Amino acid sequence: MTAPLPVVVPEPGLPTAVTIYEVGPRDGLQNEKALVPVEVKEEFVRRLLAAGLPVVEATSFVHPRWVPQLADAAELMTRLGEPGRDLPVLVPNERGLDRALELGLRHVAVFGSATETFAQKNLNRSFDEQFAMFEPTVARARAAGIDVRAYVSMCFGDPWEGAVPVEQVVAAGRRLLDLGASQLSLGDTIGVGTAGHVSALVRAFVDAGVGVDRLALHFHDTYGQALSNVQAGLRAGVTTYDASAGGLGGCPYARSATGNVATEDLVWLLTGLGVEHGVDLDAVVATSTWMAGHLGRPSPSAVVRALGGTA
Ligand code: HMG
Ligand code: MG
Repeated sequence: MTAPLPVVVPEPGLPTAVTIYEVGPRDGLQNEKALVPVEVKEEFVRRLLAAGLPVVEATSFVHPRWVPQLADAAELMTRLGEPGRDLPVLVPNERGLDRALELGLRHVAVFGSATETFAQKNLNRSFDEQFAMFEPTVARARAAGIDVRAYVSMCFGDPWEGAVPVEQVVAAGRRLLDLGASQLSLGDTIGVGTAGHVSALVRAFVDAGVGVDRLALHFHDTYGQALSNVQAGLRAGVTTYDASAGGLGGCPYARSATGNVATEDLVWLLTGLGVEHGVDLDAVVATSTWMAGHLGRPSPSAVVRALGGTA
């Protein structure tokens, strides 16, 4: 029996194709209680690439005391070899960049906060100090011919500060682009955003001169709004969406952050809308089911549960 697929009914006006930016091995595994062996991580990344995911963010070169789950970053990237050099990794500072450069990696991402409190909790820096930390990091990466993505966290709300004004997010994003980042990923770190807020934020960036082609959307699904928020992003013309296989994830430094939108749930939506994504749904479901076995708990993804069982 072949797996069911949604009936394809395109919605006029949406992008014809999008990029799914897989963050499961990084955003997913950074928050797991269990330490996942490096050989399991390697197989996870390889299976995601084989499933057609065009970008797989593999790990982080952060301080291992801050995120012990990813302390094996160098070993993972070494094991992945040449194909691994094209996979993005997080680097918060020059020390992280040095570690990535030593391994010949070609894509890094810095990660800033739209709020003061989260900059301190996540980076041990004030809001302004985080840009001072990123400035030489981005400049040196660019000079070495390395592409730099920049995340902005807490774009839709912050557990310590509450509502985050759209203008504050745009100002933080602008500073990261001005440093030389090629793309901004707007993070709903704690999943509180809703569709109208997504439209308003994208519009505010466009009004500030940042085209939708430079934006990506990064939704955590804490309040079940992620797919609806993707739909709002599609209607606004955004063509890059971060997602995590099986809905793994969260952020160790943000209370109430749960997993990213599940890659499988996103693929189901896009397939139904007739938006090209190039990902083999069955292969991702099989991968998430396999990973759920390693983690000892079922995937929270509705599509994985419907198609793949719970391992
Ligand atoms: P710090 O303690 O202020 O670091 O931490 P420091 O600059 O004072 O350095 C202290 C020591 O750490 C030094 O060593 C450095 O060499 C070392 P010593 O001289 O004492 O021996 N060090 C490092 N070692 C390895 N790798 C490094 C590194 N940097 C310094 N990169 C720091 C500052 C930024 C390092 C720390 O706060 C950190 O690692 N934070 C990372 C937190 C994190 O990874 N959070 C999760 C990712 S963000 C996220 O999930 C959100 C996102 O998904 C989007 C969304 O959902 O919104 C992206
Ligand atoms: Mg995240």
